[in-house]
Amino acid sequence: MIGSSVEVAKQHLIDGKLVAIPTETVYGLAANALNPEAVSNIFKAKNRPSFDPLILHVDSLEKVKEIVLGKIPETAIKLANAIWPGPLTMVLPRKPHIPDLVTSGLETVAIRIPNHPLTLELLSKLDFPLAAPSANPFGYISPTEAQHVEAQLGEKTAYILDGGKCKVGLESTIISFAGEQPTVLRKGGLAIEELESLMGAKLAIREHSSSRPDAPGMLHKHYSPKVPFELGDIESLLKEHKGKNIATLSLSKTFKGISSTLQFVLSEKEDLSEAARNLFAYLRTLDQLQPDIILAELVPEEGLGRAINDRLRRAAAK
Ligand code: TXA
Ligand code: MG
Repeated sequence: MIGSSVEVAKQHLIDGKLVAIPTETVYGLAANALNPEAVSNIFKAKNRPSFDPLILHVDSLEKVKEIVLGKIPETAIKLANAIWPGPLTMVLPRKPHIPDLVTSGLETVAIRIPNHPLTLELLSKLDFPLAAPSANPFGYISPTEAQHVEAQLGEKTAYILDGGKCKVGLESTIISFAGEQPTVLRKGGLAIEELESLMGAKLAIREHSSSRPDAPGMLHKHYSPKVPFELGDIESLLKEHKGKNIATLSLSKTFKGISSTLQFVLSEKEDLSEAARNLFAYLRTLDQLQPDIILAELVPEEGLGRAINDRLRRAAAK
């Protein structure tokens, strides 16, 4: 059921049920993080492998401190103060009461304070953190509207808390503070340059890999439409795929000889924030239109463009 009652969402979560929650990035599929049975239902609903750990969501730094083992590093505190609530996830050492299922047995835990008024209100009324991955079947495109969740996981959720369209549209940036140097594990809605200047320190960037246990979840193939999806120079790809029913996805370009209903422009004015907001919804619509192939091109590799390109490359990965 879709609705906007924080009270209803709260009661289902207390009862150990799954509730989809809105955030500024993408919708999450939430459960009581301290209830292993509820958490195991998240993995079942998404068909997600258990080696892929979950992010915990809370509404205050005090609650973060109840989850993290030891003192939070100064650089992490700086980022927390500057960005939370916001699209940043930090990986830090975890206290022992966090179930192994949440962290896939790792000694660290991923945490964030999301920036959405309904979810912040909900979190403030709960005395446990919410474990929540993106509310999509494993490997598929992340949801940026309540209706996206309903379409794919509607039957598996007790309630979908409708908070409208997600304002950022790309998953949070994940930074690990578990090693010697803070490291970006996933590029997200925050520009690396901005993070570095806020921290006053350099960030290492780990490029994603396959299912190596030390790099959980950073799978090469992800965010994938079911329709064939190719990334490159659209003009030349059009020649290669001549005769097929082709759809295009580009930042601002349109192409001759392609039906206008199959041409998707992420942002006419080449605004990367607007492009990020549209990306997942457009991929979904493209998938539903079922062309023979989707041809896409990268956006400029700067600021938010890096995260957009990361998602495009993984959507195209074989
Ligand atoms: O924006 C977001 O982060 C959204 C919203 C719902 O908050 N959530 C999200 O969750 O994108 P999910 O499960 O789709 O992605 C979480 C990523 C996974 O790639 C997982 O491997 C990584 O976080 N992760 C979680 N805990 C980790 C840990 N302890 N160490 C390293 N990576 C971790
Ligand atoms: Mg996800």
